[in-house]
Amino acid sequence: MINRKAIAAFLAGAAVTTAQCSIPPGTLPTNIGYNFRAQVQNASRPEVHNKYLNFLEAGGGDKHLFIGPVGTPTYDLTLVDGVIHQQASGVRAVIGGEFSEIDHTTKLFTTGRSDPAAQFQPTYACNPDTGLLQIELRLVRWVGHPDGGFICVRHSFDGSHEFRYDPPGNTLIDPARECIRVTLVVIPTGTAPTTLSTVVTSTTASSSTSVAVISSASTSVSVTSTSAAPTSTSSSLPYTDQTANGWRYIGCAPEERWATDGAFRTLSGATTSSDTMTNEACLAFCAAGGFAYGGTEWSRECWCGNSYASTRQPATTLASLAKCNYRCTGNSGQFCGGDSWLSLYAKCPTGGPCQNAVFS
Ligand SMILES: *[C@@H]1O[C@H](CO)[C@@H](O)[C@H](O)[C@H]1NC(C)=O
Repeated sequence: MINRKAIAAFLAGAAVTTAQCSIPPGTLPTNIGYNFRAQVQNASRPEVHNKYLNFLEAGGGDKHLFIGPVGTPTYDLTLVDGVIHQQASGVRAVIGGEFSEIDHTTKLFTTGRSDPAAQFQPTYACNPDTGLLQIELRLVRWVGHPDGGFICVRHSFDGSHEFRYDPPGNTLIDPARECIRVTLVVIPTGTAPTTLSTVVTSTTASSSTSVAVISSASTSVSVTSTSAAPTSTSSSLPYTDQTANGWRYIGCAPEERWATDGAFRTLSGATTSSDTMTNEACLAFCAAGGFAYGGTEWSRECWCGNSYASTRQPATTLASLAKCNYRCTGNSGQFCGGDSWLSLYAKCPTGGPCQNAVFS
């Protein structure tokens, strides 16, 4: 016979022992230039937890906000000065209208008109289920109103949930239609920020030219660099050669999301992040800490450690390098990892050989 109580106790125990992430220091910028979906979280409310924000055409160019499956999934949200936008349709998230006398909540929707916006601050936090690092959109204020407040969702038609604004200090609850407070989480989508599709290399005796063709859903960008050969910093591949600084490139390593080993970070000795991140800056940080390995990720993060699991060993195919295709915040000519992919380097022995891995 199945002991339901024992199973419930086991599950409760599992939830409590979920590993928690370490929060990188610093404040995230209020602009998110890559496309994302907005996930809704409230771990104590399974009916809304981990579902997504959808758009529903509302006439006049407005789009109302519902929890899926109602409405259309939106994969192309961006954040402009703290305001959620869908640039393709020219709408942004605002608050206004349909004020409820019972619980003092107000509608959150998107429009091309100039209604006062909902202003958010991207903030690192740990996912309540997985313990992994995530970026949440914390409500700063309804523009023109006191700071604070929450985004909440409440029943609308046919069991759907619509999005609303719950003002700071509010204790009123509509017993018939409770507005459930939720966290909005940034989930980068496949097009973010660019996809490295092709690497073309041509080499002549006197110079080497590398061309990386970057494409995303709507744009195509060519990056060309030419340098006299041989130099210590030239590279025909889409990573930054750091052998002159005493570090060799190992490859583009998977983080926990792409590895199935159950461990957390590929490198877990130290971390930092900044708006001016480059591969040089990261490896200098790791060198200062005496670490054997270092690497960049997510454009702005730097991770260091003295070992990594064999399950995180990067591939040596050219194609594998394309996962590390996020431009560094401090130098758009360099790649600093990707979405849960780490541009991984190893410290070369002092005075010893220093050669990057060979990719083919
Ligand atoms: C979940 O919703 C309830 C009801 O609004 C709220 O009191 C609680 O703080 C929410 N929890 C989280 C983690 O947002």
